[in-house]
Amino acid sequence: MRDVQQPREGPGGFVTLEGGEGAGKSTQSERLKRRLEARGLRVVTTREPGGSARAEAIRAFLLSGRAKRHGAFAEALLFAAARADHVDRTIRPALAAGGFVICDRFSDSTRVYQGKLGEVPPSALAALERASVRETRPNLTLVLDVPAKLGLARASQRRELTGEERDRFEAEGLEYHTRIRDAFLAIAAAEPERCAVIDASGAPESVERLIWAEVESRLLTPESVAGGEADHGG
Ligand code: TMP
Repeated sequence: MRDVQQPREGPGGFVTLEGGEGAGKSTQSERLKRRLEARGLRVVTTREPGGSARAEAIRAFLLSGRAKRHGAFAEALLFAAARADHVDRTIRPALAAGGFVICDRFSDSTRVYQGKLGEVPPSALAALERASVRETRPNLTLVLDVPAKLGLARASQRRELTGEERDRFEAEGLEYHTRIRDAFLAIAAAEPERCAVIDASGAPESVERLIWAEVESRLLTPESVAGGEADHGG
């Protein structure tokens, strides 16, 4: 895929958080939202799969494990169907209104989980990505990086606290999660203009600071706020 800085309109921007289990994406999404709001910016936080009513219905089916028996290609189609609705109903309108959107997982997760792990061919995934995302591509993708073992330990700690069940993807073993980590790092290395790797193994406060430094330098400089013509309107 080409590494092109996406054009932006006004002060807003589309930020995605990616990474394996237990990387702290949802915590950091809320922390980043607070920081941006403190600057007087409008922010919508959302997540995938999900983020719109229809996409949340597809999420329930995907994470229950019932889609697994249909194979990784069918899962990729379902993730793309959910994403198309999410982009149309939630992400694109918020960007068109000049706000920031922070999305917990997006199309890099499909490239990693269904592509690298599920072995769906990159050409098929690229076609699905073009159809579901169209021009609404992230301006910045933060890859929250933790060793797989630490991520899994954090995820299991969280489940103990909340009583959540492991989902279909969390139930896979350490080797699977190590491959996920490596695949996210490979995407970041191939697209450095769009992606920043964040060491997410530290305390939430220090991870928050690392993220903020990237967001400030990449999206909040006077040049980047003024920069470029955008077409997020559909
Ligand atoms: P999460 O809520 O813990 O992030 O769970 C979502 C799960 O769905 C996670 O294990 C990764 C998986 N997933 C994919 O396999 N493909 C995708 O495109 C997305 C967005 C998520």
